[in-house]
Amino acid sequence: MEKNIVVLRGDGIGPEIIGETLKVLKKVCEKFGHTFNYTDVDIGGCSIDKYGVPITDEGMEKCKNCDSVLLGAVGGPKWDNVDPLVRPEKALLAVRSELGLFANLRPTKLFSQIASASPLKNEIIQGGIDLVIVRELTGGIYFGKRSTFSENGEKVAVDEMKYAEHEIERIGRVAFETALKRKKRLASVDKANVLDSSRLWRSVMHRLSSEYPDVDFSNILVDNAAMQLIKNPSQFDVIVTENMFGDILSDEASMLTGSIGMMPSASLSSGTLGMYEPIHGSAPDIAGMDIANPLGTILSAAMMLRYSFDMHSEANAVEEAVNAALNSGYRTADIMQPDMTKVGCSKMGDIVAENI
Ligand code: IPM
Ligand code: MG
Repeated sequence: MEKNIVVLRGDGIGPEIIGETLKVLKKVCEKFGHTFNYTDVDIGGCSIDKYGVPITDEGMEKCKNCDSVLLGAVGGPKWDNVDPLVRPEKALLAVRSELGLFANLRPTKLFSQIASASPLKNEIIQGGIDLVIVRELTGGIYFGKRSTFSENGEKVAVDEMKYAEHEIERIGRVAFETALKRKKRLASVDKANVLDSSRLWRSVMHRLSSEYPDVDFSNILVDNAAMQLIKNPSQFDVIVTENMFGDILSDEASMLTGSIGMMPSASLSSGTLGMYEPIHGSAPDIAGMDIANPLGTILSAAMMLRYSFDMHSEANAVEEAVNAALNSGYRTADIMQPDMTKVGCSKMGDIVAENI
Protein backbone atom coordinates (compact mmCIF):
# COMPACT_ATOMS: atom_id res chain seq x y z
CA MET A 1 0.00 0.00 0.00
CA GLU A 2 1.05 3.58 -0.56
CA LYS A 3 0.30 6.20 2.10
CA ASN A 4 0.95 9.91 2.39
CA ILE A 5 1.97 11.03 5.85
CA VAL A 6 2.42 14.61 7.04
CA VAL A 7 5.24 14.81 9.57
CA LEU A 8 5.08 17.56 12.19
CA ARG A 9 8.43 17.33 13.97
CA GLY A 10 7.79 20.42 16.07
CA ASP A 11 10.02 21.72 18.82
CA GLY A 12 12.40 20.49 21.52
CA ILE A 13 12.93 16.74 21.31
CA GLY A 14 10.25 16.50 18.59
CA PRO A 15 12.67 16.19 15.65
CA GLU A 16 14.75 13.50 17.42
CA ILE A 17 11.89 11.22 18.43
CA ILE A 18 10.28 11.57 15.00
CA GLY A 19 13.60 10.73 13.34
CA GLU A 20 13.75 7.44 15.25
CA THR A 21 10.14 6.66 14.46
CA LEU A 22 10.75 7.13 10.73
CA LYS A 23 13.65 4.65 11.00
CA VAL A 24 11.24 2.08 12.39
CA LEU A 25 8.58 2.83 9.74
CA LYS A 26 11.22 2.40 7.02
CA LYS A 27 11.79 -1.15 8.25
CA VAL A 28 8.04 -1.75 8.35
CA CYS A 29 7.77 -0.64 4.70
CA GLU A 30 10.65 -2.92 3.67
CA LYS A 31 9.27 -5.90 5.50
CA PHE A 32 5.64 -5.55 4.45
CA GLY A 33 6.12 -4.01 1.01
CA HIS A 34 4.53 -0.60 1.62
CA THR A 35 5.51 2.87 0.43
CA PHE A 36 5.11 5.78 2.81
CA ASN A 37 5.60 9.28 1.38
CA TYR A 38 6.45 11.96 3.93
CA THR A 39 5.75 15.68 3.77
CA ASP A 40 7.28 17.88 6.47
CA VAL A 41 5.22 20.75 7.85
CA ASP A 42 6.52 23.17 10.48
CA ILE A 43 4.42 23.46 13.60
CA GLY A 44 4.74 25.27 16.93
CA GLY A 45 7.66 27.47 17.92
CA CYS A 46 9.78 26.62 14.88
CA SER A 47 6.94 27.84 12.66
CA ILE A 48 6.48 31.01 14.73
CA ASP A 49 10.18 31.76 14.26
CA LYS A 50 9.98 31.23 10.50
CA TYR A 51 6.53 32.51 9.56
CA GLY A 52 5.16 34.36 12.61
CA VAL A 53 2.35 31.81 13.04
CA PRO A 54 2.41 28.37 14.72
CA ILE A 55 1.19 26.72 11.50
CA THR A 56 0.66 28.24 8.07
CA ASP A 57 -2.59 27.88 6.10
CA GLU A 58 -0.65 25.94 3.51
CA GLY A 59 0.66 23.58 6.21
CA MET A 60 -2.86 23.08 7.54
CA GLU A 61 -4.12 22.22 4.03
CA LYS A 62 -1.42 19.56 3.75
CA CYS A 63 -2.58 18.06 7.06
CA LYS A 64 -6.15 17.93 5.81
CA ASN A 65 -5.17 16.24 2.57
CA CYS A 66 -3.01 13.34 3.70
CA ASP A 67 -3.65 9.83 5.00
CA SER A 68 -2.37 10.57 8.49
CA VAL A 69 -0.36 13.02 10.55
CA LEU A 70 2.57 12.11 12.79
CA LEU A 71 3.52 14.69 15.42
CA GLY A 72 6.53 15.01 17.72
CA ALA A 73 5.87 17.79 20.25
CA VAL A 74 5.38 21.55 20.30
CA GLY A 75 6.29 24.45 22.56
CA GLY A 76 9.06 25.55 24.88
CA PRO A 77 10.04 28.41 27.17
CA LYS A 78 11.28 30.45 24.21
CA TRP A 79 7.67 31.00 23.11
CA ASP A 80 6.07 31.26 26.56
CA ASN A 81 5.55 34.98 26.29
CA VAL A 82 4.39 35.32 22.71
CA ASP A 83 0.91 36.66 21.93
CA PRO A 84 -1.61 34.01 23.15
CA LEU A 85 -3.13 34.05 19.67
CA VAL A 86 0.03 32.62 18.13
CA ARG A 87 1.21 30.33 20.93
CA PRO A 88 2.66 27.00 19.72
CA GLU A 89 -0.22 25.10 21.37
CA LYS A 90 -2.68 27.09 19.27
CA ALA A 91 -1.53 25.15 16.20
CA LEU A 92 -2.15 21.84 17.91
CA LEU A 93 -5.69 22.84 18.85
CA ALA A 94 -6.29 24.18 15.34
CA VAL A 95 -5.16 20.93 13.72
CA ARG A 96 -7.36 18.90 16.09
CA SER A 97 -10.33 21.09 15.33
CA GLU A 98 -9.88 21.57 11.57
CA LEU A 99 -9.23 17.89 10.95
CA GLY A 100 -12.24 16.94 13.08
CA LEU A 101 -10.13 14.83 15.44
CA PHE A 102 -12.74 14.53 18.16
CA ALA A 103 -11.64 11.24 19.69
CA ASN A 104 -8.36 11.05 21.53
CA LEU A 105 -7.30 7.57 22.62
CA ARG A 106 -4.64 7.45 25.32
CA PRO A 107 -3.72 3.91 26.27
CA THR A 108 -1.95 3.61 29.61
CA LYS A 109 -0.14 0.37 30.05
CA LEU A 110 2.31 -0.78 32.64
CA PHE A 111 5.15 -2.52 30.83
CA SER A 112 6.06 -5.39 33.15
CA GLN A 113 9.77 -4.95 32.29
CA ILE A 114 9.82 -1.49 33.83
CA ALA A 115 7.13 -1.92 36.49
CA SER A 116 9.59 -0.81 39.18
CA ALA A 117 9.53 2.67 37.59
CA SER A 118 5.94 3.07 38.82
CA PRO A 119 5.69 5.27 41.90
CA LEU A 120 2.87 3.04 43.18
CA LYS A 121 3.44 0.26 45.69
CA ASN A 122 3.79 -3.26 44.38
CA GLU A 123 0.55 -4.46 45.96
CA ILE A 124 -1.35 -1.75 44.07
CA ILE A 125 0.09 -2.45 40.62
CA GLN A 126 0.25 -6.22 40.83
CA GLY A 127 -3.19 -6.44 39.24
CA GLY A 128 -1.64 -4.71 36.22
CA ILE A 129 -2.47 -1.36 34.66
CA ASP A 130 -3.95 -1.53 31.19
CA LEU A 131 -6.52 1.14 30.50
CA VAL A 132 -7.49 3.52 27.73
CA ILE A 133 -8.62 7.06 28.27
CA VAL A 134 -11.00 8.18 25.54
CA ARG A 135 -10.81 11.95 25.70
CA GLU A 136 -13.20 14.26 23.83
CA LEU A 137 -10.82 16.52 21.91
CA THR A 138 -12.62 19.21 19.93
CA GLY A 139 -15.17 20.59 22.37
CA GLY A 140 -15.64 21.77 25.92
CA ILE A 141 -13.66 24.50 27.61
CA TYR A 142 -10.79 24.23 25.12
CA PHE A 143 -13.01 25.54 22.34
CA GLY A 144 -15.60 27.64 24.16
CA LYS A 145 -15.72 31.44 24.05
CA ARG A 146 -13.00 33.20 25.99
CA SER A 147 -12.86 36.76 27.20
CA THR A 148 -11.04 39.00 29.62
CA PHE A 149 -12.72 42.26 30.57
CA SER A 150 -13.13 44.78 33.36
CA GLU A 151 -15.91 44.53 35.89
CA ASN A 152 -16.30 46.63 39.03
CA GLY A 153 -12.83 48.02 38.64
CA GLU A 154 -10.99 44.71 38.29
CA LYS A 155 -10.13 42.27 35.54
CA VAL A 156 -12.38 39.27 35.02
CA ALA A 157 -11.79 36.29 32.71
CA VAL A 158 -14.28 33.78 31.38
CA ASP A 159 -13.80 30.41 29.64
CA GLU A 160 -16.98 28.73 28.51
CA MET A 161 -17.46 24.97 28.72
CA LYS A 162 -20.05 23.96 26.15
CA TYR A 163 -21.16 20.57 24.86
CA ALA A 164 -23.83 19.68 22.34
CA GLU A 165 -25.54 16.29 22.52
CA HIS A 166 -24.09 15.14 19.19
CA GLU A 167 -20.56 15.82 20.44
CA ILE A 168 -21.15 13.70 23.53
CA GLU A 169 -22.86 10.96 21.59
CA ARG A 170 -20.09 10.51 19.01
CA ILE A 171 -17.32 10.29 21.63
CA GLY A 172 -19.54 8.00 23.67
CA ARG A 173 -19.87 5.63 20.72
CA VAL A 174 -16.11 5.51 20.24
CA ALA A 175 -15.75 4.66 23.93
CA PHE A 176 -18.41 1.92 23.96
CA GLU A 177 -16.95 0.40 20.78
CA THR A 178 -13.46 0.53 22.29
CA ALA A 179 -14.73 -1.19 25.43
CA LEU A 180 -16.39 -3.93 23.35
CA LYS A 181 -12.99 -4.80 21.87
CA ARG A 182 -11.38 -4.91 25.33
CA LYS A 183 -12.57 -6.03 28.76
CA LYS A 184 -16.02 -4.52 28.17
CA ARG A 185 -15.87 -2.12 31.10
CA LEU A 186 -16.52 1.58 30.61
CA ALA A 187 -16.42 4.36 33.20
CA SER A 188 -17.72 7.78 32.16
CA VAL A 189 -16.08 10.58 34.13
CA ASP A 190 -17.90 13.86 34.76
CA LYS A 191 -18.76 16.45 37.40
CA ALA A 192 -22.53 15.99 37.22
CA ASN A 193 -22.97 17.06 40.85
CA VAL A 194 -22.01 20.61 39.80
CA LEU A 195 -21.89 21.24 36.03
CA ASP A 196 -24.78 21.39 33.57
CA SER A 197 -22.48 20.26 30.77
CA SER A 198 -21.71 17.17 32.86
CA ARG A 199 -25.39 16.47 33.54
CA LEU A 200 -26.01 16.50 29.79
CA TRP A 201 -22.93 14.31 29.33
CA ARG A 202 -24.25 11.81 31.86
CA SER A 203 -27.72 11.63 30.32
CA VAL A 204 -26.36 11.01 26.81
CA MET A 205 -23.95 8.33 28.09
CA HIS A 206 -26.80 6.70 30.00
CA ARG A 207 -28.94 6.60 26.84
CA LEU A 208 -26.07 5.07 24.85
CA SER A 209 -25.42 2.45 27.51
CA SER A 210 -28.79 0.84 26.75
CA GLU A 211 -27.53 0.21 23.20
CA TYR A 212 -24.48 -1.60 24.56
CA PRO A 213 -25.86 -4.11 27.09
CA ASP A 214 -22.63 -6.15 26.94
CA VAL A 215 -20.60 -3.26 28.31
CA ASP A 216 -20.42 -2.94 32.09
CA PHE A 217 -21.05 0.81 32.31
CA SER A 218 -20.62 3.17 35.27
CA ASN A 219 -20.46 6.90 36.02
CA ILE A 220 -17.80 8.35 38.24
CA LEU A 221 -17.19 11.91 39.40
CA VAL A 222 -13.89 13.35 38.24
CA ASP A 223 -12.46 14.00 41.70
CA ASN A 224 -13.21 10.44 42.74
CA ALA A 225 -11.77 9.16 39.43
CA ALA A 226 -8.52 11.00 40.17
CA MET A 227 -8.36 9.23 43.53
CA GLN A 228 -9.40 5.79 42.25
CA LEU A 229 -6.70 5.89 39.55
CA ILE A 230 -4.10 5.89 42.30
CA LYS A 231 -5.93 3.73 44.81
CA ASN A 232 -6.89 0.91 42.48
CA PRO A 233 -5.92 1.48 38.83
CA SER A 234 -6.66 -2.13 37.81
CA GLN A 235 -10.41 -1.49 38.19
CA PHE A 236 -10.37 0.58 34.98
CA ASP A 237 -10.59 -0.68 31.42
CA VAL A 238 -11.93 2.21 29.30
CA ILE A 239 -12.52 5.72 30.66
CA VAL A 240 -14.45 8.29 28.63
CA THR A 241 -14.42 11.93 29.55
CA GLU A 242 -14.61 15.51 28.32
CA ASN A 243 -11.65 17.46 26.99
CA MET A 244 -10.13 19.05 30.07
CA PHE A 245 -10.83 16.25 32.53
CA GLY A 246 -9.20 13.94 29.97
CA ASP A 247 -6.16 16.20 29.69
CA ILE A 248 -5.61 16.08 33.44
CA LEU A 249 -6.48 12.43 34.07
CA SER A 250 -4.31 11.21 31.19
CA ASP A 251 -1.22 12.86 32.66
CA GLU A 252 -2.05 11.33 36.02
CA ALA A 253 -2.64 7.91 34.49
CA SER A 254 0.58 7.99 32.49
CA MET A 255 2.56 8.63 35.66
CA LEU A 256 1.17 5.48 37.25
CA THR A 257 3.31 3.55 34.81
CA GLY A 258 6.32 5.62 35.79
CA SER A 259 7.14 6.49 32.24
CA ILE A 260 5.34 9.26 30.40
CA GLY A 261 7.99 8.73 27.69
CA MET A 262 6.39 5.40 26.74
CA MET A 263 2.81 6.54 26.23
CA PRO A 264 1.34 6.95 22.73
CA SER A 265 -1.87 8.58 21.59
CA ALA A 266 -4.19 8.65 18.62
CA SER A 267 -6.55 11.46 17.70
CA LEU A 268 -9.24 10.15 15.40
CA SER A 269 -11.86 11.66 13.13
CA SER A 270 -15.03 10.05 11.84
CA GLY A 271 -13.03 8.84 8.80
CA THR A 272 -9.59 7.23 8.65
CA LEU A 273 -7.60 10.46 8.97
CA GLY A 274 -5.87 10.64 12.33
CA MET A 275 -3.04 12.35 14.13
CA TYR A 276 -0.59 10.37 16.22
CA GLU A 277 1.70 11.74 18.88
CA PRO A 278 3.32 10.79 22.18
CA ILE A 279 1.52 12.25 25.17
CA HIS A 280 4.65 13.86 26.59
CA GLY A 281 5.77 17.37 25.72
CA SER A 282 8.75 18.84 23.90
CA ALA A 283 11.18 18.52 26.86
CA PRO A 284 13.29 21.52 25.81
CA ASP A 285 15.75 20.88 28.65
CA ILE A 286 17.01 17.69 26.98
CA ALA A 287 16.53 18.67 23.32
CA GLY A 288 19.40 17.80 21.01
CA MET A 289 21.17 15.68 23.64
CA ASP A 290 20.19 12.30 22.18
CA ILE A 291 18.76 11.10 25.51
CA ALA A 292 15.00 11.38 24.89
CA ASN A 293 12.85 8.25 24.89
CA PRO A 294 11.48 7.67 21.36
CA LEU A 295 9.23 4.76 22.36
CA GLY A 296 6.08 6.84 22.95
CA THR A 297 6.33 8.17 19.41
CA ILE A 298 7.20 4.77 17.94
CA LEU A 299 4.15 3.29 19.70
CA SER A 300 2.07 6.18 18.35
CA ALA A 301 3.18 5.15 14.86
CA ALA A 302 1.94 1.64 15.67
CA MET A 303 -1.45 3.16 16.47
CA MET A 304 -1.32 5.00 13.13
CA LEU A 305 -0.72 1.74 11.30
CA ARG A 306 -3.64 0.14 13.11
CA TYR A 307 -6.24 2.92 13.12
CA SER A 308 -5.59 4.94 9.96
CA PHE A 309 -4.14 2.27 7.67
CA ASP A 310 -5.82 -0.88 8.98
CA MET A 311 -2.38 -2.54 9.06
CA HIS A 312 -2.72 -4.80 12.07
CA SER A 313 0.23 -7.17 11.53
CA GLU A 314 2.44 -4.16 10.94
CA ALA A 315 1.22 -2.47 14.13
CA ASN A 316 1.80 -5.68 16.10
CA ALA A 317 5.30 -5.94 14.63
CA VAL A 318 6.16 -2.47 15.93
CA GLU A 319 4.73 -3.16 19.39
CA GLU A 320 6.56 -6.48 19.57
CA ALA A 321 9.79 -4.79 18.49
CA VAL A 322 9.44 -2.31 21.36
CA ASN A 323 8.79 -5.16 23.78
CA ALA A 324 11.80 -7.03 22.45
CA ALA A 325 14.03 -3.97 22.98
CA LEU A 326 12.86 -3.77 26.61
CA ASN A 327 13.25 -7.53 27.07
CA SER A 328 16.84 -7.26 25.85
CA GLY A 329 17.51 -4.80 28.66
CA TYR A 330 17.80 -1.59 26.65
CA ARG A 331 16.63 1.52 28.49
CA THR A 332 16.69 5.24 27.82
CA ALA A 333 17.62 7.47 30.76
CA ASP A 334 14.02 8.09 31.87
CA ILE A 335 13.36 4.37 32.39
CA MET A 336 16.88 3.28 33.37
CA GLN A 337 17.09 0.56 36.02
CA PRO A 338 19.99 -1.24 37.72
CA ASP A 339 21.87 -3.78 35.52
CA MET A 340 20.21 -2.59 32.32
CA THR A 341 21.92 -1.14 29.26
CA LYS A 342 21.50 2.60 28.98
CA VAL A 343 21.08 3.83 25.42
CA GLY A 344 20.38 7.16 23.79
CA CYS A 345 17.44 8.11 21.63
CA SER A 346 19.06 7.18 18.34
CA LYS A 347 20.39 3.83 19.57
CA MET A 348 16.96 2.93 20.93
CA GLY A 349 15.50 3.72 17.50
CA ASP A 350 18.12 1.49 15.85
CA ILE A 351 17.36 -1.39 18.20
CA VAL A 352 13.61 -1.22 17.67
CA ALA A 353 14.12 -0.97 13.91
CA GLU A 354 16.40 -4.03 13.95
CA ASN A 355 13.73 -5.94 15.84
CA ILE A 356 11.11 -5.38 13.14
C1 IPM B 1 -2.08 17.35 25.58
C2 IPM B 1 -1.45 18.68 25.85
C3 IPM B 1 -2.22 19.75 25.10
C4 IPM B 1 -3.63 19.75 25.64
C5 IPM B 1 -1.59 21.15 25.19
C6 IPM B 1 -0.18 21.15 24.69
C7 IPM B 1 -2.42 22.18 24.49
O1 IPM B 1 -1.37 18.93 27.21
O2 IPM B 1 -2.14 16.94 24.41
O3 IPM B 1 -2.53 16.72 26.53
O4 IPM B 1 -3.90 20.40 26.66
O5 IPM B 1 -4.48 19.11 25.04
MG1 MG C 1 -2.02 17.33 28.39
